[in-house]
Amino acid sequence: MASYLVTGVAGFVGAAVAARLLGAGHEVTGVDNLTTGFRENIPSGCVFLQGNCQDETLYARLPQRDYAAIYHIAGQSSGEISFDDPVYDLQTNAQSTLLLLKFALNSKCRRFLYASTMSVYGDQPDAPVAEDAATNPKSFYGVGKLASEHYLRIYRQYGIESACLRLFNIYGPGQNMENLRQGMVSIYLAQALKNRHIHVKGSGERYRDLVYIDDVVDAFLMLERAADGPARIYNVGTSVRTTVGELIEKIRKLLPFEVSVKYDGSTPGDMFGITADCRKIARETGWQARVGLNEGLQRMVTWAMPSASGQRQ
Ligand SMILES: NC(=O)c1ccc[n+]([C@@H]2O[C@H](COP(=O)([O-])OP(=O)(O)OC[C@H]3O[C@@H](n4cnc5c(N)ncnc54)[C@H](O)[C@@H]3O)[C@@H](O)[C@H]2O)c1
Repeated sequence: MASYLVTGVAGFVGAAVAARLLGAGHEVTGVDNLTTGFRENIPSGCVFLQGNCQDETLYARLPQRDYAAIYHIAGQSSGEISFDDPVYDLQTNAQSTLLLLKFALNSKCRRFLYASTMSVYGDQPDAPVAEDAATNPKSFYGVGKLASEHYLRIYRQYGIESACLRLFNIYGPGQNMENLRQGMVSIYLAQALKNRHIHVKGSGERYRDLVYIDDVVDAFLMLERAADGPARIYNVGTSVRTTVGELIEKIRKLLPFEVSVKYDGSTPGDMFGITADCRKIARETGWQARVGLNEGLQRMVTWAMPSASGQRQ
Protein backbone atom coordinates (compact mmCIF):
# COMPACT_ATOMS: atom_id res chain seq x y z
CA MET A 1 0.00 0.00 0.00
CA ALA A 2 1.24 3.48 -0.87
CA SER A 3 0.09 7.02 0.04
CA TYR A 4 -1.02 9.49 -2.59
CA LEU A 5 -2.00 13.14 -2.65
CA VAL A 6 -4.74 14.01 -5.14
CA THR A 7 -5.82 17.62 -5.72
CA GLY A 8 -9.21 18.38 -7.23
CA VAL A 9 -10.55 15.27 -5.54
CA ALA A 10 -14.14 16.55 -5.53
CA GLY A 11 -14.08 17.13 -9.28
CA PHE A 12 -14.77 14.94 -12.29
CA VAL A 13 -11.24 13.70 -13.01
CA GLY A 14 -9.74 13.94 -9.51
CA ALA A 15 -12.53 11.87 -7.95
CA ALA A 16 -12.11 9.17 -10.61
CA VAL A 17 -8.34 8.97 -10.12
CA ALA A 18 -8.71 8.88 -6.32
CA ALA A 19 -11.38 6.17 -6.53
CA ARG A 20 -9.09 4.00 -8.66
CA LEU A 21 -6.15 4.43 -6.24
CA LEU A 22 -8.35 3.63 -3.23
CA GLY A 23 -9.78 0.63 -5.08
CA ALA A 24 -6.24 -0.70 -5.53
CA GLY A 25 -5.78 -0.58 -1.74
CA HIS A 26 -3.79 2.66 -1.49
CA GLU A 27 -4.22 5.51 0.94
CA VAL A 28 -5.39 8.80 -0.58
CA THR A 29 -5.34 12.30 0.85
CA GLY A 30 -7.50 14.62 -1.23
CA VAL A 31 -7.57 18.41 -1.44
CA ASP A 32 -10.28 20.54 -3.01
CA ASN A 33 -11.68 24.04 -2.54
CA LEU A 34 -15.14 22.91 -3.67
CA THR A 35 -15.50 25.74 -6.20
CA THR A 36 -16.67 23.49 -9.03
CA GLY A 37 -16.42 20.15 -7.26
CA PHE A 38 -18.90 18.52 -4.92
CA ARG A 39 -18.34 16.92 -1.54
CA GLU A 40 -20.52 13.96 -2.67
CA ASN A 41 -17.95 13.18 -5.41
CA ILE A 42 -15.16 12.50 -2.92
CA PRO A 43 -14.70 8.73 -2.80
CA SER A 44 -15.27 7.13 0.59
CA GLY A 45 -12.08 6.23 2.40
CA CYS A 46 -10.31 9.36 1.17
CA VAL A 47 -8.83 11.69 3.81
CA PHE A 48 -10.23 15.07 2.76
CA LEU A 49 -8.87 18.54 3.36
CA GLN A 50 -10.76 21.57 2.08
CA GLY A 51 -8.45 24.32 0.85
CA ASN A 52 -6.98 26.26 -2.04
CA CYS A 53 -3.84 24.87 -3.64
CA GLN A 54 -2.63 28.45 -4.23
CA ASP A 55 -2.85 29.17 -0.50
CA GLU A 56 0.48 28.69 1.24
CA THR A 57 -1.13 27.93 4.60
CA LEU A 58 -2.70 24.77 3.13
CA TYR A 59 0.64 22.99 3.09
CA ALA A 60 1.16 23.16 6.84
CA ARG A 61 -2.25 21.51 7.28
CA LEU A 62 -1.59 18.61 4.92
CA PRO A 63 -0.95 15.27 6.65
CA GLN A 64 2.77 14.45 6.58
CA ARG A 65 3.10 11.16 4.74
CA ASP A 66 5.63 9.51 2.46
CA TYR A 67 3.59 10.32 -0.62
CA ALA A 68 4.48 7.99 -3.49
CA ALA A 69 3.16 10.60 -5.92
CA ILE A 70 1.17 13.79 -6.17
CA TYR A 71 -1.62 13.92 -8.72
CA HIS A 72 -2.23 17.63 -9.29
CA ILE A 73 -5.62 17.75 -10.95
CA ALA A 74 -7.24 20.77 -9.23
CA GLY A 75 -7.78 23.91 -11.22
CA GLN A 76 -10.22 26.16 -12.91
CA SER A 77 -10.74 24.18 -16.09
CA SER A 78 -12.56 26.39 -18.57
CA GLY A 79 -10.90 28.54 -21.21
CA GLU A 80 -14.03 30.65 -21.41
CA ILE A 81 -14.14 31.31 -17.64
CA SER A 82 -10.46 32.26 -17.59
CA PHE A 83 -11.41 35.50 -19.40
CA ASP A 84 -13.65 36.53 -16.46
CA ASP A 85 -10.72 36.83 -14.04
CA PRO A 86 -7.27 36.12 -15.54
CA VAL A 87 -5.49 36.83 -12.25
CA TYR A 88 -7.55 34.21 -10.43
CA ASP A 89 -6.87 31.82 -13.28
CA LEU A 90 -3.13 32.33 -12.91
CA GLN A 91 -3.36 31.68 -9.18
CA THR A 92 -5.48 28.55 -9.45
CA ASN A 93 -3.66 27.04 -12.43
CA ALA A 94 -0.05 28.18 -12.09
CA GLN A 95 0.71 29.40 -8.56
CA SER A 96 -0.95 26.25 -7.20
CA THR A 97 1.48 24.09 -9.19
CA LEU A 98 4.48 26.02 -7.96
CA LEU A 99 3.43 25.63 -4.31
CA LEU A 100 2.68 21.94 -4.75
CA LEU A 101 6.11 21.40 -6.29
CA LYS A 102 7.68 23.11 -3.30
CA PHE A 103 5.63 20.85 -1.04
CA ALA A 104 6.75 17.79 -3.03
CA LEU A 105 10.37 18.79 -2.60
CA ASN A 106 10.04 19.47 1.14
CA SER A 107 8.19 16.24 1.75
CA LYS A 108 10.60 14.19 -0.39
CA CYS A 109 7.89 13.11 -2.80
CA ARG A 110 9.58 12.46 -6.14
CA ARG A 111 6.67 11.78 -8.48
CA PHE A 112 4.33 14.42 -9.82
CA LEU A 113 1.52 13.91 -12.33
CA TYR A 114 -0.07 17.03 -13.75
CA ALA A 115 -3.42 17.59 -15.49
CA SER A 116 -2.40 19.88 -18.35
CA THR A 117 -4.50 20.49 -21.40
CA MET A 118 -4.68 20.51 -25.19
CA SER A 119 -5.41 24.25 -24.80
CA VAL A 120 -1.66 24.88 -24.55
CA TYR A 121 -1.44 24.28 -28.32
CA GLY A 122 -3.85 26.91 -29.64
CA ASP A 123 -4.90 26.68 -33.27
CA GLN A 124 -3.10 23.97 -35.23
CA PRO A 125 -3.18 22.59 -38.78
CA ASP A 126 -5.89 20.01 -39.44
CA ALA A 127 -3.86 16.91 -38.46
CA PRO A 128 -3.26 15.17 -35.14
CA VAL A 129 -0.91 17.37 -33.14
CA ALA A 130 2.20 15.89 -31.52
CA GLU A 131 3.81 17.02 -28.27
CA ASP A 132 6.63 18.86 -30.02
CA ALA A 133 4.25 21.20 -31.90
CA ALA A 134 4.54 24.92 -31.16
CA THR A 135 2.45 26.08 -28.21
CA ASN A 136 0.32 29.20 -28.72
CA PRO A 137 -2.45 29.13 -26.13
CA LYS A 138 -5.46 31.30 -26.98
CA SER A 139 -6.84 31.59 -23.45
CA PHE A 140 -5.48 32.67 -20.07
CA TYR A 141 -6.30 29.13 -18.98
CA GLY A 142 -3.92 27.67 -21.58
CA VAL A 143 -1.20 30.11 -20.56
CA GLY A 144 -1.45 29.12 -16.87
CA LYS A 145 -1.31 25.43 -17.74
CA LEU A 146 1.71 25.97 -19.98
CA ALA A 147 3.46 27.89 -17.19
CA SER A 148 2.85 24.90 -14.91
CA GLU A 149 4.44 22.57 -17.45
CA HIS A 150 7.54 24.76 -17.36
CA TYR A 151 7.59 24.77 -13.54
CA LEU A 152 7.59 20.99 -13.67
CA ARG A 153 10.46 21.03 -16.14
CA ILE A 154 12.50 23.30 -13.88
CA TYR A 155 11.76 21.17 -10.81
CA ARG A 156 13.14 18.10 -12.53
CA GLN A 157 16.59 19.47 -11.78
CA TYR A 158 15.69 19.13 -8.07
CA GLY A 159 14.78 15.49 -8.62
CA ILE A 160 10.99 15.72 -9.04
CA GLU A 161 10.08 13.30 -11.83
CA SER A 162 6.96 14.46 -13.55
CA ALA A 163 4.56 13.80 -16.35
CA CYS A 164 2.27 16.45 -17.84
CA LEU A 165 -0.83 14.97 -19.39
CA ARG A 166 -2.15 17.19 -22.15
CA LEU A 167 -5.72 16.08 -21.75
CA PHE A 168 -8.06 16.50 -24.69
CA ASN A 169 -11.85 16.79 -24.20
CA ILE A 170 -12.79 14.37 -21.45
CA TYR A 171 -16.33 13.14 -20.98
CA GLY A 172 -18.19 10.45 -19.09
CA PRO A 173 -20.18 9.66 -15.96
CA GLY A 174 -19.33 11.97 -13.07
CA GLN A 175 -18.87 15.06 -15.25
CA ASN A 176 -20.40 18.23 -13.82
CA MET A 177 -23.83 18.62 -15.44
CA GLU A 178 -24.62 21.87 -13.62
CA ASN A 179 -21.83 24.02 -15.03
CA LEU A 180 -22.84 25.08 -18.51
CA ARG A 181 -19.51 26.76 -19.24
CA GLN A 182 -17.20 23.81 -18.67
CA GLY A 183 -16.89 20.53 -20.62
CA MET A 184 -18.16 20.16 -24.17
CA VAL A 185 -20.13 16.90 -23.94
CA SER A 186 -21.57 17.71 -20.51
CA ILE A 187 -22.70 21.18 -21.66
CA TYR A 188 -24.62 19.85 -24.66
CA LEU A 189 -26.03 16.82 -22.86
CA ALA A 190 -27.11 18.90 -19.85
CA GLN A 191 -28.83 21.43 -22.09
CA ALA A 192 -30.60 18.66 -23.98
CA LEU A 193 -31.82 17.00 -20.78
CA LYS A 194 -32.88 20.27 -19.12
CA ASN A 195 -34.33 22.24 -22.00
CA ARG A 196 -34.71 19.76 -24.86
CA HIS A 197 -32.73 22.37 -26.75
CA ILE A 198 -29.02 22.82 -27.41
CA HIS A 199 -27.53 26.25 -27.96
CA VAL A 200 -24.14 25.91 -29.63
CA LYS A 201 -21.91 28.95 -29.24
CA GLY A 202 -19.82 28.59 -32.41
CA SER A 203 -19.73 26.59 -35.60
CA GLY A 204 -20.83 22.99 -35.91
CA GLU A 205 -17.75 22.41 -38.06
CA ARG A 206 -15.41 22.89 -35.09
CA TYR A 207 -13.91 19.58 -34.07
CA ARG A 208 -12.48 17.91 -30.99
CA ASP A 209 -10.86 14.73 -29.74
CA LEU A 210 -13.22 13.25 -27.14
CA VAL A 211 -11.66 10.87 -24.62
CA TYR A 212 -13.54 8.77 -22.08
CA ILE A 213 -12.89 9.26 -18.36
CA ASP A 214 -11.80 5.67 -17.62
CA ASP A 215 -9.15 5.90 -20.34
CA VAL A 216 -7.85 9.13 -18.79
CA VAL A 217 -7.57 7.48 -15.36
CA ASP A 218 -5.63 4.61 -16.98
CA ALA A 219 -3.26 7.15 -18.54
CA PHE A 220 -2.56 8.84 -15.20
CA LEU A 221 -1.79 5.56 -13.49
CA MET A 222 0.35 4.20 -16.32
CA LEU A 223 2.36 7.41 -16.45
CA GLU A 224 2.93 7.35 -12.72
CA ARG A 225 4.79 4.10 -13.19
CA ALA A 226 6.67 5.57 -16.17
CA ALA A 227 7.29 9.13 -14.95
CA ASP A 228 11.02 9.00 -15.35
CA GLY A 229 13.38 9.32 -18.28
CA PRO A 230 13.62 12.32 -20.52
CA ALA A 231 10.12 12.43 -22.01
CA ARG A 232 7.69 14.28 -19.83
CA ILE A 233 4.79 15.63 -21.84
CA TYR A 234 2.10 13.37 -23.23
CA ASN A 235 -1.04 13.86 -25.26
CA VAL A 236 -4.00 11.95 -23.90
CA GLY A 237 -6.74 11.65 -26.51
CA THR A 238 -8.04 9.24 -29.12
CA SER A 239 -6.76 10.76 -32.39
CA VAL A 240 -10.37 10.59 -33.62
CA ARG A 241 -11.84 13.80 -35.01
CA THR A 242 -15.45 14.52 -34.07
CA THR A 243 -17.17 17.70 -35.20
CA VAL A 244 -19.50 19.53 -32.86
CA GLY A 245 -22.31 18.81 -35.32
CA GLU A 246 -21.55 15.06 -35.27
CA LEU A 247 -21.43 15.03 -31.48
CA ILE A 248 -24.78 16.75 -31.22
CA GLU A 249 -26.37 14.31 -33.66
CA LYS A 250 -25.08 11.39 -31.58
CA ILE A 251 -26.50 12.92 -28.40
CA ARG A 252 -29.87 13.57 -30.08
CA LYS A 253 -30.05 9.95 -31.29
CA LEU A 254 -29.43 8.61 -27.80
CA LEU A 255 -32.24 10.60 -26.19
CA PRO A 256 -35.85 9.40 -26.25
CA PHE A 257 -37.25 12.86 -27.07
CA GLU A 258 -36.75 15.53 -29.72
CA VAL A 259 -33.97 18.05 -29.11
CA SER A 260 -33.78 21.29 -31.11
CA VAL A 261 -30.43 22.92 -31.91
CA LYS A 262 -29.42 26.52 -32.54
CA TYR A 263 -25.94 27.59 -33.68
CA ASP A 264 -25.27 31.16 -32.67
CA GLY A 265 -22.51 33.32 -31.15
CA SER A 266 -19.00 32.31 -30.12
CA THR A 267 -16.85 31.61 -27.08
CA PRO A 268 -13.76 33.67 -26.21
CA GLY A 269 -10.50 31.78 -26.64
CA ASP A 270 -12.18 28.86 -28.39
CA MET A 271 -9.98 26.75 -30.65
CA PHE A 272 -11.42 25.78 -34.03
CA GLY A 273 -10.28 22.20 -33.99
CA ILE A 274 -7.72 19.85 -32.58
CA THR A 275 -6.98 16.14 -32.33
CA ALA A 276 -4.18 14.35 -30.51
CA ASP A 277 -1.30 12.40 -31.89
CA CYS A 278 -1.02 9.78 -29.13
CA ARG A 279 1.87 7.71 -30.45
CA LYS A 280 4.26 8.87 -27.76
CA ILE A 281 2.26 7.68 -24.76
CA ALA A 282 1.44 4.45 -26.62
CA ARG A 283 5.10 3.82 -27.37
CA GLU A 284 6.35 4.59 -23.88
CA THR A 285 3.61 3.09 -21.71
CA GLY A 286 1.45 0.94 -23.96
CA TRP A 287 -1.56 3.16 -23.17
CA GLN A 288 -4.27 3.66 -25.72
CA ALA A 289 -7.86 4.81 -25.50
CA ARG A 290 -10.20 1.83 -25.36
CA VAL A 291 -13.68 3.28 -25.17
CA GLY A 292 -15.11 4.55 -28.45
CA LEU A 293 -17.38 7.57 -28.61
CA ASN A 294 -20.64 5.69 -29.23
CA GLU A 295 -20.03 3.37 -26.29
CA GLY A 296 -18.83 6.20 -24.03
CA LEU A 297 -21.76 8.46 -24.85
CA GLN A 298 -24.20 5.63 -24.25
CA ARG A 299 -22.66 5.07 -20.80
CA MET A 300 -22.81 8.77 -20.03
CA VAL A 301 -26.45 9.12 -21.08
CA THR A 302 -27.37 6.06 -19.00
CA TRP A 303 -25.66 7.66 -16.01
CA ALA A 304 -27.19 11.11 -16.55
CA MET A 305 -30.64 9.82 -17.39
CA PRO A 306 -31.15 6.21 -16.34
CA SER A 307 -34.54 6.03 -18.11
CA ALA A 308 -32.95 6.79 -21.52
CA SER A 309 -31.44 3.35 -21.90
CA GLY A 310 -32.17 2.82 -25.59
CA GLN A 311 -31.77 4.70 -28.82
CA ARG A 312 -34.63 6.49 -30.45
CA GLN A 313 -36.04 4.70 -33.50
N1 LIG B 1 -12.43 17.82 -18.30
C1 LIG B 1 -11.67 18.06 -19.36
O1 LIG B 1 -12.10 17.87 -20.51
C2 LIG B 1 -10.26 18.53 -19.20
C3 LIG B 1 -9.48 18.70 -20.35
C4 LIG B 1 -8.18 19.16 -20.20
C5 LIG B 1 -7.66 19.41 -18.94
N2 LIG B 1 -8.44 19.23 -17.86
C6 LIG B 1 -7.87 19.53 -16.55
O2 LIG B 1 -8.14 18.47 -15.67
C7 LIG B 1 -8.37 18.96 -14.36
C8 LIG B 1 -9.68 18.42 -13.83
O3 LIG B 1 -10.75 18.85 -14.65
P1 LIG B 1 -12.24 18.42 -14.32
O4 LIG B 1 -12.94 18.26 -15.60
O5 LIG B 1 -12.23 17.30 -13.34
O6 LIG B 1 -12.79 19.75 -13.64
P2 LIG B 1 -13.63 19.87 -12.27
O7 LIG B 1 -14.02 21.31 -12.19
O8 LIG B 1 -14.70 18.85 -12.22
O9 LIG B 1 -12.55 19.53 -11.17
C9 LIG B 1 -11.61 20.46 -10.69
C10 LIG B 1 -11.66 20.36 -9.18
O10 LIG B 1 -10.65 21.20 -8.64
C11 LIG B 1 -11.21 21.98 -7.59
N3 LIG B 1 -10.39 23.20 -7.58
C12 LIG B 1 -10.35 24.16 -8.53
N4 LIG B 1 -9.42 25.07 -8.22
C13 LIG B 1 -8.85 24.66 -7.06
C14 LIG B 1 -7.81 25.18 -6.25
N5 LIG B 1 -7.18 26.29 -6.59
N6 LIG B 1 -7.49 24.53 -5.12
C15 LIG B 1 -8.15 23.39 -4.77
N7 LIG B 1 -9.13 22.85 -5.49
C16 LIG B 1 -9.47 23.47 -6.64
C17 LIG B 1 -12.65 22.19 -7.97
O11 LIG B 1 -13.48 22.46 -6.87
C18 LIG B 1 -12.98 20.84 -8.59
O12 LIG B 1 -13.43 19.91 -7.64
C19 LIG B 1 -8.33 20.48 -14.46
O13 LIG B 1 -7.08 20.93 -14.00
C20 LIG B 1 -8.49 20.74 -15.92
O14 LIG B 1 -7.85 21.94 -16.31
C21 LIG B 1 -9.73 18.80 -17.94
